[in-house]
Parts: sequence; C-alpha cells; structure tokens
Amino acid sequence: MRQHVLRHKEQIIEENRQYLAEDPKALKGRWHSLFDERFSESPLYVEVGSGKGLFVTSMAKAHTGRIYLACEGAVNVYPRVLQKAGDLKLENLRLISEYMIDPSEYFEYGELSGVYLNFSDPWPKDRHAHRRLTHVSKLLSYKKIMAPGTTLEFKTDNDALFEFSLEQAALAGLCCERVIRDLHSSDLAAENIQTEYEQKFSGSGKTINYLKIVF
Ligand SMILES: C[S@@+](CC[C@H](N)C(=O)[O-])C[C@H]1O[C@@H](n2cnc3c(N)ncnc32)[C@H](O)[C@@H]1O
Repeated sequence: MRQHVLRHKEQIIEENRQYLAEDPKALKGRWHSLFDERFSESPLYVEVGSGKGLFVTSMAKAHTGRIYLACEGAVNVYPRVLQKAGDLKLENLRLISEYMIDPSEYFEYGELSGVYLNFSDPWPKDRHAHRRLTHVSKLLSYKKIMAPGTTLEFKTDNDALFEFSLEQAALAGLCCERVIRDLHSSDLAAENIQTEYEQKFSGSGKTINYLKIVF
C-alpha cells in the first residue's frame, strides 16, 4: 500500500516516546511491567495493524481498566498513534512500532486477553496469501498463546479476505463464535468502535464483515 510521507515524524516520536515499547520481543511475558502498578492485574489486548490508531486509542479511553498495545509497522503511520495517545494522555496504551510476523515471539501463553485485526491489508495475489494477518500460520501462532475463552476479533470491508479468513479459521480448528456480514446493521452496532478505514468504507456504502473467534 502506498503511504504518504509523514512530516515531523521524528519530532512526534520524540515528544511521545514514553508510549513506545522498545525491544518488544524482550517484553514477552512481562508486558505489564510497562504500566503503572494499578494495572498489574489488568487484562491485556493488542491490535495488530493499528494504522493511525483511532480504534485502539478509543478503546483505551473507553476501557480504563484494561491495557492496550497498538502494533503498527509503517514508519509514516505509527507516529500518529503516539500523537493520539499523547493528546488523550492515555496511561493504559503502548505502541509496538514494528511489523509483527509471529505473535508467539511477543507473547507468553495466557498473557493476552484479546486480539484485534481491523481492515488488514488484503494481499490479493495468491502468492502473497501467507502475508495476510488471518493466514492459518498466524492463527496457529495465536492458538499457541491464547488461553481458553480469550478472543480474536476481525473486521474487514474486503469480502474475499473475509471468506478466506473463515476458511483459514476452519483449517486452524478454531471456533467462529460470531460471523456477521453487515456489522453496522447487527446487534453489535451500538457497542462497535470504528476504525479510520471503517469510517471511510462504510461512509461510501460498503458493508462491514465481522468475525469473532473464541479460543
Ligand atoms: C489497511 S490499514 C488499516 C489500518 C486500521 N486498522 C484501520 O482500520 O483504519 C492496515 C495497516 O496494517 C499495518 N500492518 C500490516 N501488517 C502488519 C503487521 N504484520 N504488523 C503490524 N502492522 C501491520 C499496515 O502498515 C497498515 O498501516
């Protein structure tokens, strides 16, 4: 995907450096150490592919008893997450500023309560299928680390990617608790927090697909 060059990104990063999780793989098993003591028992959630961070920062603001990790690898995008966290003075959010390939390299079994994948890049060519964030290899990596009852939620405007993801979940032997093809007309609409892409696509009339996997 082509991305605009973000001006002043070094300055944004410097001003909000306290939100950056440095050396994130070394934090495996001790993510709570990044947060204030009052979050020591708080459930931990990650959004992989956060974009500019509207969703994850809104979640962190709405659920002050939880802690959140944004994960975004694009250097012209992730400073926006830092900026939003700084503007909102969030104490329960940190950013992993790299592309996460194998989630089990970042998290211990049972460390995460939930995963969000929102409007993940579709990688339409077959030869790139392994790069899709819902590819069976990624789902099996989550399966290794997610305790029973924890969740993975996926939203996309892309119908082909959605059908692919359902097949991959079946291949990984995972339970799809909710499969919804028009999220905004569903019973979950009222509690749904939108992402930047979601606003854009639903604003132009596209229905939004939603999948909830329970491990
Ligand atoms: C299409 S955008 C969607 C952004 C946001 N979730 C939204 O809905 O507005 C996908 C984002 O995921 C990021 N991304 C893709 N693969 C990733 C990975 N493995 N780890 C972290 N970020 C990733 C891309 O850089 C891009 O910013």
